[in-house]
Amino acid sequence: MSFDLVLFGGTGDLAWRKLMPALFQAFRHGTLPEGGRIIGIGRDDLSDAQYRELIRARFDNVELAKRPKPEEFERFAGLLHFLRMDLTQPQDYGRLATTLRDRNAQTVVMYLATAPDLFTRVCEQLAAAGLNLPNTRLVLEKPLGHDLASNREINDVVRGVLDERQIFRIDHYLGKPAVQNLFAMRFGNALFEPLWRREHISNIQITIAEDMGVEKRGAFYDKTGALRDMVQNHALQLLCALAMEPPINSHADAIRDEKLKVLRSLVKWTPETLDQHVVRGQYAAGNVGGQLVPGYREEKGVDPESRTETFVALRAEIASWRWAGVPFYIRTGKRLAAREAHILVNFREAPHPIYQAPRNSWNRLVINLQPRDGVQLHLLAQGQENRRNGAMLEPVHLDLDFDKRFGSERVGAYERLLLDVIAGRLNLFVRSDEQEAAWRWVEPIMEHWAADTHGPRPYTAGTWGPSASSAMIARDGFCWSEEC
Ligand code: BG6
Repeated sequence: MSFDLVLFGGTGDLAWRKLMPALFQAFRHGTLPEGGRIIGIGRDDLSDAQYRELIRARFDNVELAKRPKPEEFERFAGLLHFLRMDLTQPQDYGRLATTLRDRNAQTVVMYLATAPDLFTRVCEQLAAAGLNLPNTRLVLEKPLGHDLASNREINDVVRGVLDERQIFRIDHYLGKPAVQNLFAMRFGNALFEPLWRREHISNIQITIAEDMGVEKRGAFYDKTGALRDMVQNHALQLLCALAMEPPINSHADAIRDEKLKVLRSLVKWTPETLDQHVVRGQYAAGNVGGQLVPGYREEKGVDPESRTETFVALRAEIASWRWAGVPFYIRTGKRLAAREAHILVNFREAPHPIYQAPRNSWNRLVINLQPRDGVQLHLLAQGQENRRNGAMLEPVHLDLDFDKRFGSERVGAYERLLLDVIAGRLNLFVRSDEQEAAWRWVEPIMEHWAADTHGPRPYTAGTWGPSASSAMIARDGFCWSEEC
């Protein structure tokens, strides 16, 4: 199948860091359809040869196992082209149209890896140049707006020029192998479904912790914060995957309909729950991995009096027969104690205990997302040591490591998503109504914070966030994984 992949922002950070390495991996794995062309778009005046050379040099920063050998790069470079465009100039879209018409590929992917404030302009100009054809696919990177109104504005423009089935909104968490395994575990096995409900599950915890700070993105992050950067999208998508009903089939809309139902069933915020069930924090100087690191307000590009949150912990509930009364805790933050993302599904205690068990040793399913990718099932067993103490059980666990089982050369998130766009598979992309429902749910939190004079609670870099986050979960009688 012939394709043209037009990469707006072809000399930008995302292209270097994620997209080119992912495209190369797909090329190496032989999964990138043959007969493709990758056209980088940028403002510089570069020839194809110069663009190829720039990309070759960037691969030097990629980990050795994923770096092309010279002859491999030669072959990959044959796909790479460059077109200079000023995205504000209509005539430049005419030149793009000519470049694409000459080849007439079966599929044309327009990937907007640009600053988000260009999204609507680029879409309008693509349409004006007659480039919104039935074989066009548009890929949008987050952030898609900074609130419900701006998100709708973008979606309205995009949907005005293309059909929803031509629009691929990326949430790269959906491309992670571990997240696809969560779907497979729930809907490909009969074992969990009967237990996957309020009668058996006492609470669910989603942790997406990062040990790094805002790196070079201080100015962007200061206008964004953890709620918009991580909760509105990645964390809520994970919550949907955990809480959704089994879809009627594996088609994109069947899956997205069920995710949308979850987002619409999230219990609305009240002044009381906004006060008690949401914690925001901001990192202060501390020690991460044995190194002293500055506080958030000292980071480059950040306002020294910034009130932007770098940590959020919250307690959500879903109003449905399956989940009524089960708390879903979400926490995410920068400069935490470790880079670690996992989900804990905590089951209820045995209804009639005839054994003694250590405290907090309930059955638990741990879904590790990163850096490890796998599943652990925590159970209680009769060990030998405690025989003397009567019937005291011991915690044990079954441990499944997907990297070991399936090999570490697995398809990465961007590789998966790019291949799906080219193939026209929408399953792992977010529909506009999902995005809007997610914004509708987080917006009251943003408004509450804007009106609240206290600002985020400071936490020392290298810890697990402000103590109010532990207090929030402890009020329900539970604890975060590292505390139990
Ligand atoms: C991005 C956020 O969407 O996800 C970043 O903008 C964050 O701030 C990143 O660091 C985390 O992704 P991953 O795949 O490293 O967990």
